[in-house]
Amino acid sequence: MDVLIPEAEIRRRVDAIAAEVNRDFAGRPFTVIGILTGSLVFLADLIRLIEHPHQIGLIQASSYRGGTTSGTLVVNDGLLPDIKGRHVLLLDDILDTGQTLSRLVEHLLHKGAVSVKTCVLLRKIGRQTIPCEPDYTGFSIPNKFVIGYGLDFADDYRHLPFIGVLPDDPK
Ligand code: IMP
Ligand code: MG
Repeated sequence: MDVLIPEAEIRRRVDAIAAEVNRDFAGRPFTVIGILTGSLVFLADLIRLIEHPHQIGLIQASSYRGGTTSGTLVVNDGLLPDIKGRHVLLLDDILDTGQTLSRLVEHLLHKGAVSVKTCVLLRKIGRQTIPCEPDYTGFSIPNKFVIGYGLDFADDYRHLPFIGVLPDDPK
């Protein structure tokens, strides 16, 4: 498998993002919300580098149903703590079309968040169809289907410690 981003490079970028978050969220009660399932590994690494008290929440949004093509977005916020009056840092594994992130920002503001900042580990170049500018971006990557570090293909490969390109890219 082709390794696009090795483990050590991910670690360095997560460190740098955490430093920015530590600076920007100092003294504000905030909630880090991870979008299931892809952001889990990123969330676990990032929160352990955050130096201020914060709560954690999870929300589910799936637009990829067992393949690499986009479907309808299904949102499940049953696991979300109360975010009324709180600042939110919303995390996703990858920004592709922008549908997931833009929809969820609206959803969280509607649920009473005071502000929502967005953070993605990866951003695919030239794929955004819905205007959406993340506040924090790990890496901009070419338009390839990637797996590992939380990202899946048909729910496999999430455990890989690096970001790899899916062999025989089915796109
Ligand atoms: P968007 O709504 O089109 O921006 O898609 C974002 C979601 O699609 C992410 O949360 C991922 O779950 C999934 N996704 C997009 N591209 C990839 C990829 O290359 N590998 C794995 N999942 C992807
Ligand atoms: Mg996802």
